[in-house]
Amino acid sequence: NRYVIIMAGGKGERFWPVSRQKTPKQLITLLGKRSFLQQAVDRVLPLVPLKNIIIITNEVQAPTVRKQLPKLPKENIIAEPCGRDTCAAVTLGAAIVGARSTTAVMAVLPADHVIPEEKKFQQVLSDAFNLAARGQVIVTIGIKPTEAATGYGYIHTGAALPTPEGAKPSKTTFYKAERFVEKPDYDRAVEYLNSGQYRWNAGMFIWSFVTVTEGLQKHQPEMYEACQRWFKVANNPAKLKRVLEKEYPNIKKISIDFALMEHAQNVVVADGSFEWDDLGSWTALARHLKPDAEGNCAVGDFIHVDAARNIIFDARTKNRTPIAVVGLRDSILVQTDDAILLAHKSQAQKIKELVVKLTNDK
Ligand code: GDD
Ligand code: MG
Repeated sequence: NRYVIIMAGGKGERFWPVSRQKTPKQLITLLGKRSFLQQAVDRVLPLVPLKNIIIITNEVQAPTVRKQLPKLPKENIIAEPCGRDTCAAVTLGAAIVGARSTTAVMAVLPADHVIPEEKKFQQVLSDAFNLAARGQVIVTIGIKPTEAATGYGYIHTGAALPTPEGAKPSKTTFYKAERFVEKPDYDRAVEYLNSGQYRWNAGMFIWSFVTVTEGLQKHQPEMYEACQRWFKVANNPAKLKRVLEKEYPNIKKISIDFALMEHAQNVVVADGSFEWDDLGSWTALARHLKPDAEGNCAVGDFIHVDAARNIIFDARTKNRTPIAVVGLRDSILVQTDDAILLAHKSQAQKIKELVVKLTNDK
């Protein structure tokens, strides 16, 4: 009775010009041959049948999602009429899954992560499913922080939990979560990192339908009521579409981290001992590429004289004329069929601001 809900409605603007409105980060292919979303689905298939995988996306991205996942039942791709952040997406996903089975256990997963060690991830997820199926707990996956990142949630991790009575010992260690802090400022992130007692929240939540609805009822009553309404029409796609079109624009816009995780008392952290990255920017991508002798990381061919530590990404599908670089340092150069980006590595986060300025990024 396991389900997976993949949240795939984010914008992912920092990968412009490869990411666009219709094809944001989760739908582009940067590493390997499959898009991040396709990889997210491939990764859970050993644990959950395709018919139990639900994608929550939006109207603009739904056609590309359908094209990228041709074997997924059409009714498993749910399009939000507009983006209302992850609490709404989680609530909708819970309604869809609950309508199929009120005794379901579900994992809510992001669509855009890099997890090279799939087997280790699958072991943790499988153990998390088992634990969530037994009791009223919210299971998160905690990653050991390696830097004072401010783009992640942090979980203050308490004592290791004993194996529940009657259960087989699991390979994964679970800890009590003392406190959840979403995206702290830099000083606090440094404090958390140095204390050694905090984990990064991997943005993955595993819970039963009963537990998530109880959590919403307690901490976000209006979301709970929306869940009840959507639950009733979830098995009728045409009706659901009508209800969502009417209600979605007025739904509270808040992330699940602020809405539920910061308040819930029944949170447990699974030891996520696998390599993990929420690729936030072009510079983060470089961590997964093999640098040449001068520290340049490239996808596609380029010629250079005295260039060092650059990130060069050729995403063109045609007219691949040479990319040539002389004397360039610490820069990002990205070329697609219709755009060129040249940026300094230290300013990679500002590409988001650039996208705001682009009126023709359709
Ligand atoms: N359907 C839908 N609708 N999906 C959404 C929406 C929405 O309105 N907004 C975001 N998503 C999807 C994104 O595509 C992504 O797969 C996932 O939800 C998480 O959203 P992000 O916007 O990427 O969140 P974040 O990275 O800033 O923060 C979250 O993830 C971090 C780990 O990657 C938080 O959970 C942090 O606590 C966590 O550390
Ligand atoms: Mg993210």
